[in-house]
Amino acid sequence: MSVLVDVIAGARPNFMKIAPILHAMRSRRDAGGPLRWRLVHTGQHYDPRMSGEFFDQLGIPAPDVNLEVGSGTQAEQTAGIMVGYETLLLQQRSACCLVVGDVTSTMACAITAQKLHVPVAHVEAGIRSGDWTMPEEINRLATDAVTNWFFTTSEHANANLRRAGVDEARLFFVGNTMIDTLLANMARLRAPDVVQQHGLQSGGYFVTTLHRPANVDSAESFGRLLRAIGDGCRGLPVVFPVHPRTAKTLRALPDFPANLLLVDPQPYLEFNWLVKHAKGVITDSGGITEETTVMGVPCLTLRDNTERPETVELGTNELIGTDPAKLAPALARLFDGQWKQGQVPPLWDGRTGERIVATLEQLLA
Ligand code: UD1
Repeated sequence: MSVLVDVIAGARPNFMKIAPILHAMRSRRDAGGPLRWRLVHTGQHYDPRMSGEFFDQLGIPAPDVNLEVGSGTQAEQTAGIMVGYETLLLQQRSACCLVVGDVTSTMACAITAQKLHVPVAHVEAGIRSGDWTMPEEINRLATDAVTNWFFTTSEHANANLRRAGVDEARLFFVGNTMIDTLLANMARLRAPDVVQQHGLQSGGYFVTTLHRPANVDSAESFGRLLRAIGDGCRGLPVVFPVHPRTAKTLRALPDFPANLLLVDPQPYLEFNWLVKHAKGVITDSGGITEETTVMGVPCLTLRDNTERPETVELGTNELIGTDPAKLAPALARLFDGQWKQGQVPPLWDGRTGERIVATLEQLLA
């Protein structure tokens, strides 16, 4: 008898997390396993550069359903996804709703499923920044409050969940599916055009990504941050793939440092090529700090907290904060060759998707 699992994806950071799970599901099915899946794209990210290109490059099949929620406020997106997903579940129930990460789609589908008594599996459960001003933290808390099965990336996540009263039978420390995708694609990474156009040399440029509302929504402080990045990198080129949210503020700035190379959001293989060969990465993303840790590339995070402390304790990441003045001294240490080497956290070994699917088979079959 086959068992239907909904695999939910909505926004860019979800796509690299679902890819290895879908690949593992396909292998187990081909080997006679009982699990079947329905890939539900909520449509939170819809531009080809934020969505379709990732499906193509990572070999993710076309979604079975697209809820086409599009852009909106937090509540508009949440409500749209809930209505769309509820309609789908009422038409055809699934045996499990599998959500990944911490975006609005993750939370909205988890709550919708649980209210219809469809059990929820959360991949990347239990991570916490403690910062309630970030929508992702609210999404994490709300999702884990209605999760049946917690798949975790780190001992920190396990400890957070145990503290919240989650019992061991529902806790599965499996590793990191984002790193499965990175390791599976390491040999396929390829240089984007900007490398040739600007003659970028390995170790001779930086990469920056910024999209958190706290950093990019005010033109004045965003301008200050960009000047600090431009100066701190001492004239070396800084490749800056611009997220659509960031582009809006960027258009309002009178100017920006000449060594910043603005490019469109990059596809997966090109972006990680840039990271792998960079002297360092300056970011406010969480996921990128995991990838730099595995690639051993210095990472400076422009946030005051992180939900991924293992990237700081074990990896190459350092929390710089949001004060632009903190950047120059940190970059000076990097230029002096004093950045830590770092090591890869336990179970970030490329096999996480397989472990998740094997566990789901036992839970659901
Ligand atoms: C979302 C996630 C964030 C993740 C980020 C990665 C939440 C709460 N946040 O933030 O955790 O790190 O994605 O990219 O879920 N837009 C486009 N084209 C698109 C998608 C969005 O132009 O394909 C525009 C929207 O109009 C909006 C802005 O980008 O103005 C933000 O999009 P949204 O999905 O609301 O949140 P992100 O900031 O992308």
